[in-house]
Amino acid sequence: MPTAKARACRTASQVTEALDTFGPPYVVKNDGLAAGKGVVVTEDRAVAERHARECGRVVVEEFLDGPEVSLFVLSDGKHALPLLPAQDFKRAHDGDLGPNTGGMGSYAPVPWAPAGLSDEVMGSVVRPTLVEMNRRGARYQGLLYVGLSLTSQGPRVVEFNARFGDPETQVILDRLSTPVGAVLQATDTAGLGAIGSLNWKTGAAVTVVVAAENYPGDPVRGDLVHGLGTANALEGAYVLHAGTAWAPDGGVKANGGRVLNVVGTGADLRQARDRAYEAVSYIELRGSFHRTDIAERAVAQMQD
Ligand code: GLY
Repeated sequence: MPTAKARACRTASQVTEALDTFGPPYVVKNDGLAAGKGVVVTEDRAVAERHARECGRVVVEEFLDGPEVSLFVLSDGKHALPLLPAQDFKRAHDGDLGPNTGGMGSYAPVPWAPAGLSDEVMGSVVRPTLVEMNRRGARYQGLLYVGLSLTSQGPRVVEFNARFGDPETQVILDRLSTPVGAVLQATDTAGLGAIGSLNWKTGAAVTVVVAAENYPGDPVRGDLVHGLGTANALEGAYVLHAGTAWAPDGGVKANGGRVLNVVGTGADLRQARDRAYEAVSYIELRGSFHRTDIAERAVAQMQD
C-alpha cells in the first residue's frame, strides 16, 4: 500500500527513536478513536512528545509533503465505485494554521487533481485493499474513505475511515445526480455492478464550516444562531446543521463545535465559493469563526 513510513510506539523511548528517525515536521497519531482530532503535525518536538505522552499508544509517521484529497469509494463486497474526489481543510485557521479539526470546509470537484486520479487510486489502493480484506475473511461492504496526500512520488494513503467524511460529503452528495438512496441500497445488496457508474452534476460546490467559539477545544454552547433564513434564501446556497439544537423559544442555538455547514453551489468553483461566503456573511453567532480561504487557491489557479 503506498503510504508513509510509520512506527507504532508504546513507550517514550520508542517515540524518541521514531521522532529521531523521521525528523520534523513530526506526525504523531493517537492509536485509537479520537473523533478526527487525534493527529498532531508539528515542527515543535516538545508538542509532538507531549501528544504522544497524552495518548499513550501512538503511531509516529514520516511527513507526507503534498496537498490532501479525499476519495470515497462505495463497495458492495464485489464491485466498488468511486465518488468524486474532494478537498478538506483540516486546520482551524486560514493558511492551514492552528489546531487540527474534524474539517473546516471542503469543495468538489478538485480541478487541479491529476487526470485519472480516481482510476489510479482504485488500482493502487482500493482494489488491493478490498481483495486483501476479502482474503482475510472481512469482506468490505460500505463506504471506504481514502484520505490521500498527492506527493511528488504519487498518491500516498494518509488514512482510511469506514464511513462518509465530514465536510467532504456535504459537497460530494450535492454534486451526485444519481439518486443517493438507490446507490446506498445497491451497496447494501451487492447491486453496484448493475449501477455501473455514477452521474455527476456539472458545476461545483463549496462548503464552509461555521464553528463555535473555542472549537476544537471545549466549544461554547447555547448561543443563538441568527440569519439562517437569509442564508438559505440566497440562490444556490443552503445551510446544513451539524451542531445545533432548538432553543426554548423555538430559535436555533449552537450545540457543538462545528455548528453549521454553509454550502454554495454554482456553475464553477468561483461562483460556488462566492455564494457560500455570501451566505456565511448572513450568519450571526456570538464568538463563532470560520476559515476565509476555503477553495481560494483552487479558484486562483482557475484564473491563471
Ligand atoms: N474530513 C475528515 C473526516 O471526516 O475525518
